[in-house]
Amino acid sequence: MRFQTSATLVATALISPGLATYAPVSTSCPSTSLIRIADGLSDGEQTYRTARKEKADVALADWLLKTSCGFDTSGDLPTVALTSSGGGFRALLGGAGVVQAFDGRDSNVSTSGLYQGITYHSALSGGSWLLSSIIANDFATISSLLEIWKPNFANGLFTPDGSNATAVFADISADIALKKAAGFKGTVADAWSRLLSLQLLPGPNYGVDNTLSTITSLSSFIDYEMPYPIITAQNVDLSGTLCTPPANGSVWEFTPYEFGTWDPEVAAFTPTAFLGTSVSNGIPSTNSCITNYDNLGFVLGTSSTLFNDPTEGATEAPAVLLANLCQATATTSSNSTSTVDPLTVEFEEDVFSLLTEIPAITFTSAADLFATWPNPFYKLTSAPLVSAQQNLAMVDGGETGQVNPIFPFLQPARNVNVILVNDNDGDTAALYPNGAELRNTYLAASAAGLTRMPFVPSSDVFIAQNITERPVFFGCGDSSKATVVWIPNAPLTPAGGAIETAQTVINGTQTESLVANGVAVGSQNDSKEWATCLACGIMEGTGTVLPAECRACLEKYCFTQ
Ligand SMILES: *[C@@H]1O[C@H](CO)[C@@H](O)[C@H](O)[C@H]1NC(C)=O
Ligand SMILES: *[C@@H]1O[C@H](CO)[C@@H](O)[C@H](O)[C@H]1NC(C)=O
Ligand SMILES: *[C@@H]1O[C@H](CO)[C@@H](O)[C@H](O)[C@H]1NC(C)=O
Ligand SMILES: *[C@@H]1O[C@H](CO)[C@@H](O)[C@H](O)[C@H]1NC(C)=O
Ligand SMILES: *[C@@H]1O[C@H](CO)[C@@H](O)[C@H](O)[C@H]1NC(C)=O
Ligand SMILES: *[C@@H]1O[C@H](CO)[C@@H](O)[C@H](O)[C@H]1NC(C)=O
Ligand SMILES: *[C@@H]1O[C@H](CO)[C@@H](O)[C@H](O)[C@H]1NC(C)=O
Repeated sequence: MRFQTSATLVATALISPGLATYAPVSTSCPSTSLIRIADGLSDGEQTYRTARKEKADVALADWLLKTSCGFDTSGDLPTVALTSSGGGFRALLGGAGVVQAFDGRDSNVSTSGLYQGITYHSALSGGSWLLSSIIANDFATISSLLEIWKPNFANGLFTPDGSNATAVFADISADIALKKAAGFKGTVADAWSRLLSLQLLPGPNYGVDNTLSTITSLSSFIDYEMPYPIITAQNVDLSGTLCTPPANGSVWEFTPYEFGTWDPEVAAFTPTAFLGTSVSNGIPSTNSCITNYDNLGFVLGTSSTLFNDPTEGATEAPAVLLANLCQATATTSSNSTSTVDPLTVEFEEDVFSLLTEIPAITFTSAADLFATWPNPFYKLTSAPLVSAQQNLAMVDGGETGQVNPIFPFLQPARNVNVILVNDNDGDTAALYPNGAELRNTYLAASAAGLTRMPFVPSSDVFIAQNITERPVFFGCGDSSKATVVWIPNAPLTPAGGAIETAQTVINGTQTESLVANGVAVGSQNDSKEWATCLACGIMEGTGTVLPAECRACLEKYCFTQ
């Protein structure tokens, strides 16, 4: 009998090896404060950034000189950041292609090597799936990730594991039950996160052991090989009448060291490792703190959680269910032409079946539609925007119509000079971007007083000037602005780069062709001219003498009215 009992236990453990670890864990609190007022960068980021930039500068100089021997790389080189946009699997795969086109370890095109010259990489929603998969796999190349992604994506997000989705849903339900038993809320966002983890993150039990704070223990982080990662999300104050963030909603940052926002009405950060802790006015409410709440799957799931935003006018049962719980109010965004990532009815049906197959999820209030994060800034008087909220109800980072996570790089403290914006939004009928989202960021940045964002016209101007399908530089010639290099997804290969944001099953052929189109976007068909012009755009703000070729480049790529 004894043997049988332990055999049963072993069998259970084999099905769900790290099961216990999705639950947050109680631990002793750090001796340092859980709150840091946002008066600059954290010590951790400052140290990382300095060491990373030293490495990046060597690679950047190499790459610049490869494009033209005329660049003067003897002085201070610009700090360069990359942003990977939202847009579901389209953004994940198109964004991956752009990373591959820039990654000197993984391609041999005109732009290869630039990724090694980048100091920061931010992402949201579908882009955060990409960034998380890269960093959790210890700064893996896109080629190696494709081997993990292809079979998983071919199975489909809602029919995971090929063999037995029922068992997967049962595991996920058990995970959520454990989180709830530990005293926390578990919602549809947790289920969504666990499904995404299964597809993207390494390790047993759907990558459950990956947390954002433990990225710091990976060798590529210790060696400053990876750009410093930043994942963004938004929040909703559920005490109001809205279930979607306002146009001026705070942009929240998740990084390996800290979570918080620069929004002046919060302007504070907390250590990522202790997220989940119940904190009141900066003091832990009990003698113990929480770890393991910062599950990386839950972070990337939070950044892409959009169940609060049902399709308008949908009459299908799941949409009605969601709409009844949450008042779906259109964003008040200044003339936004598109709301981000609209759920299709089909997608909602998939979500609905997810809900019914995961008994640990209950649906009784609007809060059940959000990713719940205990609010580290609860009762913090210097954070009036959220100080009354015990929990932060978090959603997709793109829900205010800013699908490119640019805000982190407009902060003067980060002093980023060049922002490479890979936009994979599906604004047009053909599901390519038309500048509308970049315009939204310009408007929101202006309203928020983030003056490093250069002027961006409305999408009508992009269309009139025929610049929706190729890169454009904004902020040329103005040293008070960052240079924004907009790199839009466009159909540069026969198969193109467009799939619906809501498509969640992708066969291996399509996965490869979407990445290949992204490589074509990043390198503009392996164009030598583009690489040189991109280098000109990167160096344009340095005040150094540029090679003669740059004249024509800046004329072609710098936006003028
Ligand atoms: C990259 O391609 C060029 C030709 O386009 C070739 O000369 C070079 O050897 C290649 N480098 C590597 C590392 O494959
Ligand atoms: C799938 O998993 C469920 C739950 O673990 C189990 O009851 C069922 O027998 C499995 N089906 C197959 C075909 O393996
Ligand atoms: C947005 O603007 C409103 C009024 O203009 C203000 O009350 C609110 O605090 C702002 N919200 C954020 C998130 O900054
Ligand atoms: C919004 O559109 C209206 C009318 O099209 C225009 O008058 C207004 O200036 C626009 N607002 C912004 C912030 O672009
Ligand atoms: C618009 O731009 C594309 C790509 O840059 C180019 O192929 C096309 O000829 C242009 N069309 C017009 C009307 O200028
Ligand atoms: C890239 O190549 C495709 C054909 O494969 C062509 O249609 C497109 O115009 C090219 N684009 C650029 C920017 O060279
Ligand atoms: C893969 O998916 C694409 C797009 O849906 C489809 O056209 C193609 O036939 C599929 N290929 C295979 C081998 O199933």
